[in-house]
Amino acid sequence: MTSLKSAAAVLLMLPTIVSASGQEQLPPAEPYCQWQVKNYAIEQPLCGYTGSAERGKKIVSDSHAGNCLACHRLPIENIEAFGTIGPSLEGVGSRLSEGFIRLRVVDTRHINPASIMPGFYRDPKLINRPARAYIGRTFLTARQVEDVVAYLVSLK
Ligand code: HEC
Repeated sequence: MTSLKSAAAVLLMLPTIVSASGQEQLPPAEPYCQWQVKNYAIEQPLCGYTGSAERGKKIVSDSHAGNCLACHRLPIENIEAFGTIGPSLEGVGSRLSEGFIRLRVVDTRHINPASIMPGFYRDPKLINRPARAYIGRTFLTARQVEDVVAYLVSLK
């Protein structure tokens, strides 16, 4: 009887544990910055941030952040396998403009409505039924997007 009771107590506690740990992993949602598309490009950096290529390189290979390597090849050492679903991004900075790269990362559907690439900075209000912890959030923060863009632009 006692063990049954304590088992029930544990079960009742579970949802709290899960949501508490879910929130621990995520910093508070940041205010969303609007962006504008002109001629298949977003010319203005999100929220006016200046990106860091060094941080961007870490974000593209972090499977909990950009996870770009799941679909793209990039010039990063010590990676065993790259995804081949998307084109290689080696030398992308000399092929594509910064504004076009930013739009690709922010919301690729403006370029290819059928794309399977996730929109990393779509308006959270337009995301259908997000998991509770993700309400009001974008996949990457504005700063992370600018870091990734700075990194891709540096790949000449
Ligand atoms: C689920 C797979 C997937 C993921 C994850 C993904 N992409 Fe893509 N990406 C694609 C595909 C597929 C294309 C080809 C164009 C299309 O279908 O829209 C593409 C195209 C691109 C392009 C344009 C390349 C060109 O040569 O025209 C860029 C830049 C890009 N992705 C950057 C990124 C970055 C940066 C990340 C991570 C933050 C990322 N992608 C994550 C699938 C993905």
